[in-house]
Amino acid sequence: MDEQAVLREIGREGLIQITSTFYQKIKTDDLIGPMYPKDQWEASETRLREFLLMRIGGETDYIKHRGHPRLRMRHVPYSIGTKERDRWVELMSQSIDQCQIPETSAVQLKEFFYQVADFLRNKYT
Ligand code: HEM
Repeated sequence: MDEQAVLREIGREGLIQITSTFYQKIKTDDLIGPMYPKDQWEASETRLREFLLMRIGGETDYIKHRGHPRLRMRHVPYSIGTKERDRWVELMSQSIDQCQIPETSAVQLKEFFYQVADFLRNKYT
């Protein structure tokens, strides 16, 4: 992913908008929704938003609040197989489309999310 190009094209506002659209969807999702800690939706959304603003925007709030991301380790408590991976990616792709992200950035973001989601799989049945 060309982070600087994506940031230029969609701005930090784009990343914030994608995250909030995604969280609206995840809350009511029958497969993934129940995995998230109850009544902590705002805090969870903040973690993903700050992660993306760090990974793509170079901001440092995520590190300040959470330290090194260690995403694989942090997803170990959740059972993530191909079904869960595909649902997460599907909801994120719908969010990107709904936010009308320009094509070049949309393609790169979807590829990035798929790669990370696949890397987070910890169930191979
Ligand atoms: C593959 C399917 C995935 C599932 C089922 C899943 C599920 C979860 C759950 C249940 C949490 C805990 C909520 C919280 O306390 O914040 C979480 C946290 C998080 N996830 Fe995922 N996730 C997936 C993929 C991804 C992907 C692709 C990314 C990034 C590109 C990501 C980034 C994060 C981040 C940044 C956190 C917060 C980590 C922390 O600081 O504690 N997740 N995820």
